Amino acid sequence: MTKGRQSSAPGRKHNVKRLRLAAIGCGGRTYTYLSLAAQEPDHYEIVAAADPQPGRVERIRTLSGNPSFRAFRNDAEILAVDRLADIMVIGTQDSFHFEPCQRALEKGYDILLEKPIATSPEEVLALARLADRLGRRVLVCHILRYTPFYRKIKEILDSGIVGDIITLNAIESLGPWHQAHSYVRGHWAVTEKTSPMIVAKSCHDLDICSWLIGSPCKSVSSFGGLTHFTPQNAPLGAPARCTDGCPVGHTCNFNALLYATRERAWLSSVYDEEAGAPLEQIRAWLRTSPWGRCVYRCDNTAVDHQVACMRFANEVTATFTMTAFDAGRCIEIYGTRGFLTGRNERQTEGADILFIQHHTYNRTRWNVTSPVGGYAGHGGGDPGLIHALYEEMNKPDAADMASSIQRSVESHLMGFAMEASRLTGKTVDMADYVGRVSNELK
Ligand SMILES: NC(=O)c1ccc[n+]([C@@H]2O[C@H](COP(=O)([O-])OP(=O)(O)OC[C@H]3O[C@@H](n4cnc5c(N)ncnc54)[C@H](O)[C@@H]3O)[C@@H](O)[C@H]2O)c1
Repeated sequence: MTKGRQSSAPGRKHNVKRLRLAAIGCGGRTYTYLSLAAQEPDHYEIVAAADPQPGRVERIRTLSGNPSFRAFRNDAEILAVDRLADIMVIGTQDSFHFEPCQRALEKGYDILLEKPIATSPEEVLALARLADRLGRRVLVCHILRYTPFYRKIKEILDSGIVGDIITLNAIESLGPWHQAHSYVRGHWAVTEKTSPMIVAKSCHDLDICSWLIGSPCKSVSSFGGLTHFTPQNAPLGAPARCTDGCPVGHTCNFNALLYATRERAWLSSVYDEEAGAPLEQIRAWLRTSPWGRCVYRCDNTAVDHQVACMRFANEVTATFTMTAFDAGRCIEIYGTRGFLTGRNERQTEGADILFIQHHTYNRTRWNVTSPVGGYAGHGGGDPGLIHALYEEMNKPDAADMASSIQRSVESHLMGFAMEASRLTGKTVDMADYVGRVSNELK
């Protein structure tokens, strides 16, 4: 990273070295992160952004409050000029993380990289090796690591009151509408064009399993598929689009017209003119947008349920379940001194519950609250990550960064290996798998 104090916004004195942030890809994620960074002007200065959609770059200019802010039309343009920031935020879609990240590293940037790191195990490993070789820092947006909920679990485990972990079960329930929005109608619906669900979405959970268990994963197996969001389940007479007079629209939980009412909050992430848009405008947009399609008549291939089993080097066994059909996460940890369970879910809105049943029959309960962020802000993970970014990038030893690319590679490769297992029906030995991926890179 560049040393020495950075220039400040006019009229303001900063006593610490601020980190200059630039971004490639100014969609929902980058906007969220940079909005949070803008609230910490003593730590961050937003200096530039690139996106083919000029309105998105202008949104970033506005929140930067920086008269010297520079706008670029794409990754190539921003990476063609001399390095203009300490950190490049890579917030493009999954299939376009690898290339801009590689070039930004070569240009001398440290990186805040959206998950997944990349869409193939070879690219994941290649980026981690490149960062190592160049001595650059890459922080992966594994936001769960920065939530009060999972930090509390880690603190409890480290205190020893649960004893040694023997077994762990984790569940991620995506939520039916979230599944429909993102993995049926949306950006991550066609696995072959992005990354498999177990990596794209569940890399967060696998990262948490790996972090809490604290031992290398030895082998994995997985089953799952796409069962519900298929043409076979389309109601009789349902047209291709919900705007085309569906006979069951009034009772369908996935009616796209709900974007105008109950599910309005989802719209802003895909429709830039959402703010204040009247119903007719939203209807008109739904008539041509992918988000207006019947969920039973899309080109989706992403699974709506998947389970995975893991065996770790310390003989801990773990299971993970991803399902579309509830909203929230829960975890069970069986230890030699007690059983810990916790739920982090939409209903509790940031007041998550952790419970320990000690083997002595005593019980301890914690209500873990996220002061900011709520469920929509990933249980405090978004603000937690951006708040921690400054400290992470300034740690004397990059190996101590909580969600560094080096630490994140393990859980990403577990995800890719699980997908291989799901597709082949075979258990995957992680050492063999990583060996094969490494050979591909030679
Ligand atoms: N950490 C998390 O919890 C979390 C949550 C949701 C999404 N994500 C990930 O974040 C990433 C971004 O998601 P999003 O919802 O913000 O996506 P988005 O589609 O809203 O934004 C991507 C942006 O990249 C821009 N872009 C495309 N080509 C470009 C180029 N050549 N140069 C510069 N910009 C370019 C697009 O115009 C778009 O504005 C995805 O990889 C996604 O999987 C992470």
